[in-house]
Amino acid sequence: MLHPQPYHGKLIIVEGIDGSGKSTQIDLLVKWLTAQGRTVYFSEWNSSELVKSTTRLAKKEKLFTPTTFSLLQATDFADRWENYMLPMLKAGAVVLADRYAFTAFARDVARGVDPLWVRNLYSFAPQPDLALYFRVPLEVAISRILSARAKIKYYEAGMDLGLSEDKVESFTLFQKRIMEEYERMIEEFNFTVINGTQPIQAQQKQIRALVRRVLNGWEGLPNPMAAAGKNKKRQKKQKTREVA
Ligand SMILES: Nc1ncnc2c1ncn2[C@@H]1O[C@H](COP(=O)(O)OP(=O)(O)O)[C@@H](O)[C@H]1O
Ligand SMILES: [Mg+2]
Repeated sequence: MLHPQPYHGKLIIVEGIDGSGKSTQIDLLVKWLTAQGRTVYFSEWNSSELVKSTTRLAKKEKLFTPTTFSLLQATDFADRWENYMLPMLKAGAVVLADRYAFTAFARDVARGVDPLWVRNLYSFAPQPDLALYFRVPLEVAISRILSARAKIKYYEAGMDLGLSEDKVESFTLFQKRIMEEYERMIEEFNFTVINGTQPIQAQQKQIRALVRRVLNGWEGLPNPMAAAGKNKKRQKKQKTREVA
């Protein structure tokens, strides 16, 4: 178990295999919360500038072992966590993450890394206030990926594991392993399971209700832009009053 999240802000994350609909839903959530005047901070897996060039080179040259891949992605996450997500949480923002430590727990273990070792590696990361797990049958996710994208990449397909010479077959076998790890984590990390085969709007409706429950009665950091808008309105009112 990860330690509970002790900060003033709220931490909401999405997990699931590629093509399960995570990014679609979290994008809609960010827009909805921002429109409400909330201060929202969004972070995406594998997006830190700190290790970007190393990751790119190692992927290109196929230099990664499961351990070095895991360590570099943990560095990416630690950089984003310590410099952005944690300060925003402390300040009282709603921090939203497209993939969290659970992605490492699923993918690295699917690559043969020891489950306890990788959990210890991320022991600085707290348990989110809401962890949404998008569950879809493998075939649904794969057909979405194949129709949305031209090519599946080498590591994404788990080609480094030597499961199959065929990329789509390797991807399918690798995603299956990842999915099994996610399924095992539902209880361990208190995932809320979302049926990812539902239409986009139906899922978003359900997710907003869950988020509303998490934010109920909580005063976060007001969005300075929204506050500026309110002040302008107030000033306008004041002026109207003075004129009258
Ligand atoms: N509920 C849904 N029904 C049908 N297609 C969807 C649904 N949600 C997402 N998609 C489509 O599936 C593809 C993958 O979705 P995405 O949100 O990028 O998944 P993920 O971030 O989990 O990889 C995209 O082309 C997206 O438009
Ligand atoms: Mg995505």
